[in-house]
Amino acid sequence: MGIIFNQKEQVFLLNTPNTTYGIAIADDKYLLHLYYGKRLEQESVRYLLREDEPPFVPSKNLREKNSFLDCAPMEYPEAGMGDYRESAISIRSIDGYRGSELFYEGYDIEEGKPKLEGLPATWGGASDCTTLKLYCKDQLLGIKVTLLYTVFEQLDVVTRSVVVENHGEDPVYLEKVLSACIDMDDRGFEVMGLFGSWARERHIQKMPLGYGRQNISSFKGESSHQEHPFLALVTPEVTQEVGEVYAMNFVYSGNFIAQVEKNQFDSVRMTMGIHPEGFTWKLDKGERFVAPEVVMVYSSEGLGKMTRTFHNLYREHLIRSPYLHQKRPILINNWEATYFDFDEKKLLDIAKEASQLGIEMLVMDDGWFGHRSSDNSSLGDWFVNENKLKGGLHQLVENVKQTGMKFGIWFEPEMISPDSELFKKHPDWAIQIPGREITQSRAQYVLDLTRDEVIDGVYQMVSDVLHSADISYVKWDMNRQLTTIGSCKLPADRQGEIYHRYVLGMYKMQERLLQEFPNLLLENCSGGGARFDAGMLYYSPQIWCSDDTDAIERLAIQEGTALIYPVSTIGAHVSVCPNHTVGRETPFDTRGNVAMLGTFGYELDITKLSKEDKQSVCEQTKQYHKYNDLVREGDYYRLTSYRENSYYDSWMIVSKDKKKALLTYVQVKARANGKSRFVRLQGLDANKTYTIQGKEYLGSTLLYAGLRFSAEFGDYKSQMIEIEEV
Ligand code: GLA
Repeated sequence: MGIIFNQKEQVFLLNTPNTTYGIAIADDKYLLHLYYGKRLEQESVRYLLREDEPPFVPSKNLREKNSFLDCAPMEYPEAGMGDYRESAISIRSIDGYRGSELFYEGYDIEEGKPKLEGLPATWGGASDCTTLKLYCKDQLLGIKVTLLYTVFEQLDVVTRSVVVENHGEDPVYLEKVLSACIDMDDRGFEVMGLFGSWARERHIQKMPLGYGRQNISSFKGESSHQEHPFLALVTPEVTQEVGEVYAMNFVYSGNFIAQVEKNQFDSVRMTMGIHPEGFTWKLDKGERFVAPEVVMVYSSEGLGKMTRTFHNLYREHLIRSPYLHQKRPILINNWEATYFDFDEKKLLDIAKEASQLGIEMLVMDDGWFGHRSSDNSSLGDWFVNENKLKGGLHQLVENVKQTGMKFGIWFEPEMISPDSELFKKHPDWAIQIPGREITQSRAQYVLDLTRDEVIDGVYQMVSDVLHSADISYVKWDMNRQLTTIGSCKLPADRQGEIYHRYVLGMYKMQERLLQEFPNLLLENCSGGGARFDAGMLYYSPQIWCSDDTDAIERLAIQEGTALIYPVSTIGAHVSVCPNHTVGRETPFDTRGNVAMLGTFGYELDITKLSKEDKQSVCEQTKQYHKYNDLVREGDYYRLTSYRENSYYDSWMIVSKDKKKALLTYVQVKARANGKSRFVRLQGLDANKTYTIQGKEYLGSTLLYAGLRFSAEFGDYKSQMIEIEEV
């Protein structure tokens, strides 16, 4: 069993194969954090609490209670009582007082993992995981807080979330409810996060940890292009293979804060949860609030181990789609091919040509509905524009199917254009502050998904379209962030709930879609990859990673994304050159080799490709069928990073049984007077013999000495190398 309660010491130890997480009940009934890190085999570890050091037991040293609160390693710190570090929970009473004190009341240990109502979360049965519930209470307010910890028995993962219940007589206002907090001594940590912009998502950044607070956050209403709900503390020597990593990833798609704070005593507090900015949740008598889940991974074997732990967890215990373990159809999307300028003939021409070359599905992107011919109108009018698609959707889909291809379609269900039938009918359906101008972004407003009638109205239109033809795939887009936060229906003291209610509404819609269309392949998207997060993976097995389809730009984007998320989830396509975002020219095979680290598909007008490029498409689609089982199900190893060395990028996918591997090497820049270099491989079995391009090598040789790559003449050259056990 992964969870031990040492009654004598009043200590809980949460064990995974290689890690231990410890919590202690203090004599005063505070819950204190004891330890997180490499697995401890000893069960009596209460000495880690430093109780003999003043001011550690308030009941014995009450005059220093403030110092106790401000330096004790609190398991779930409260605001307002004396801990000046970042709090995890802040509660305002009906009288306006801000403060709470949570004291331990009891625990339960259960097999498996309870669901988090209305929220995406990892899941597992009795043989996969065990859950600890710690019950705490604030007597004065009658607030009960349950801290939930799930330990995955086979993976080095502890997940956390929190349930707050009002057992008092009066309502309270939750001003902050974070999901996880850990305190520990600083060990020279550095902070790692993912940062970016539109078309430049999730670039890895490492910064020194200084005194004070450093946070990564979004209050844009989505996880965002710019910052990402992931934070890791790493020891300075960290590489892919060595060093310690404490990582947190949020299974949530809205506002978040991930923060690390180093204080006067060189202790570090790491927190993650819903961003308190713009958040106040009224909790009436008898109501409960469930905070989304944080996944914590500790690795003492570098970043690579952390990555593979996240990948395994998400593939085995987060993504529910029936497509998870299936080869997805190779798709061709018409966005970069035509933008808004298409009709049924153009689409059919693409489908005909594509089907000849091994492509399996046509996706009709933005512009098929209402009177949309640019991004200025029609969001919300989810009915087919028959001026554009003469004969209607059903006919088009049947014609596409005649070519042997499946059909997919684009929606942006959370939005409403000011120029739309829907807005004329329901101007109050947009998120807005009455009396103020609604801030536009891409000429559109955001629908008020806090309201059931809005969800029902829009969902019905989407569902009708999906019933009207044989549609295999939906790309669900979300092309702007939230502003002018207000709902025409919520009462004044619930307006602070909009951001979170919006996310819950969006989850509800996606859940409904999956229930009604269980065979639909759903791909999420948000102006490229602004909502590529663990929350959305609960609903869709793949997410469009970035609007930037340039192979070289994609190296850093995909490296950052694959740091946490399985490569089978990364929407990646081959597009034309000069690339539409950066104007770069890259070889066609390099574009294919980079997109192969993902779902794989095309984003171009295939009718306009040269004969040679069409030939390459044929080869690539064959390669996809050859390698996708391995890429989708294997273990990902990052070998070198162009981000760090400026010249070359390389990665490997190794099958779980270590019999097969695929290595991709990209020489990003040619180097004057460059010599060949050895790249040390990872993930192979040291004792197996492998064959590469007709030569045999012992695994240990490839792991310790490496494989030689010659310096090539010219930029952007790449190779994909098959490795197989003899
Ligand atoms: C977003 C998506 C693109 C495309 C456009 C359509 O930017 O990321 O792939 O679908 O919207 O407007």
